Amino acid sequence: MAPSVLIIGASGVVGRPLVQEFLKNKSSFASIAVLSDPTKVSRFTEVQSQGVKLVIGSFLEASSYKGFDTVISLAGNATFKLQPGIIDAAIAGGVRHFYPSEFGADLSYGKNGKKRYFRDKIATREHLRDRAREVPGFAYTLLMTGGFTEFTAHEFGGVDLEKHTITTYGTPDAQITVTAMPDIMRYIVQSVLLPLEPGQSSRELRVAGETLTWGALMKTLEEVQGVRYDATYLDPRIAAEKEEAARVAGDHEAEILWSSKALFATGTAYGPGPFDNARFSFAPESARETMERLFGKK
Ligand SMILES: NC(=O)c1ccc[n+]([C@@H]2O[C@H](COP(=O)([O-])OP(=O)(O)OC[C@H]3O[C@@H](n4cnc5c(N)ncnc54)[C@H](OP(=O)(O)O)[C@@H]3O)[C@@H](O)[C@H]2O)c1
Repeated sequence: MAPSVLIIGASGVVGRPLVQEFLKNKSSFASIAVLSDPTKVSRFTEVQSQGVKLVIGSFLEASSYKGFDTVISLAGNATFKLQPGIIDAAIAGGVRHFYPSEFGADLSYGKNGKKRYFRDKIATREHLRDRAREVPGFAYTLLMTGGFTEFTAHEFGGVDLEKHTITTYGTPDAQITVTAMPDIMRYIVQSVLLPLEPGQSSRELRVAGETLTWGALMKTLEEVQGVRYDATYLDPRIAAEKEEAARVAGDHEAEILWSSKALFATGTAYGPGPFDNARFSFAPESARETMERLFGKK
């Protein structure tokens, strides 16, 4: 049966292009819907006119999920920790396939499980594992993509595209796995259509555009833009100290922000694979192709 999909956090950075990708594949889905808080419905007027259903309600109430079998959570930093409650409400509403807000580093790799930025994502994984044991027919998918290539040539990666400076916590030889955002949207949509095995209650999908070093990635940026960047590499312990100071001060937002500073040039976003790219119908962009697209070179 064609899946009925409800997207949470659909107005965010991932949500907007993801809704468009679902619309491109509309005929493969019984319905495509976004969940909206009553105060934010105007954000979705345009996609509604394109055929997306609007569910108005709270992501913590079971009634919001009635009639949907698949939920994709795109919770942002501030809402990661609400996901266990979202999962319980979704299950109570009848949802049988849940995608938590992952779409990044492989959390089982290296010391990622101990990093503050991933704490609420890990707690969400644990909650999903427990609920999938208790609820017959409930399954979840963890989709890991490495860093978004677009976010590396960006202030999130410490890159100032106007001043041509790179200020990064880490080292140039750190490996990073990156995937382009349009490809990530395609991986998400196509994965919903990949059947789970009978009785399968969890699935891990790892996809990658390319793995290279942070230094090679930044060199690609320089070559594509045709400019030299001044690069400064900072000790990740400085970001860790600021993260700890924010924690002690009770500033949750600053704590998460500092915990996100040392993700790209420290090996955190390196994906060891094995990758599931071959299960999908397209070849992803290389980092150079993404940079060329971003900077109008193709
Ligand atoms: N690997 C990478 O390089 C990379 C890059 C970017 C994102 N990601 C991942 O992709 C996922 C989605 O991220 P995103 O950038 O799309 O998130 P986002 O734009 O920051 O937020 C997504 C949604 O979360 C809800 N939200 C955000 N702040 C909120 C608040 N204070 N209170 C209530 N709701 C709030 C909003 O939903 P409503 O519209 O319903 O209010 C928003 O649309 C995350 O897991 C993130 O880690 C990975």
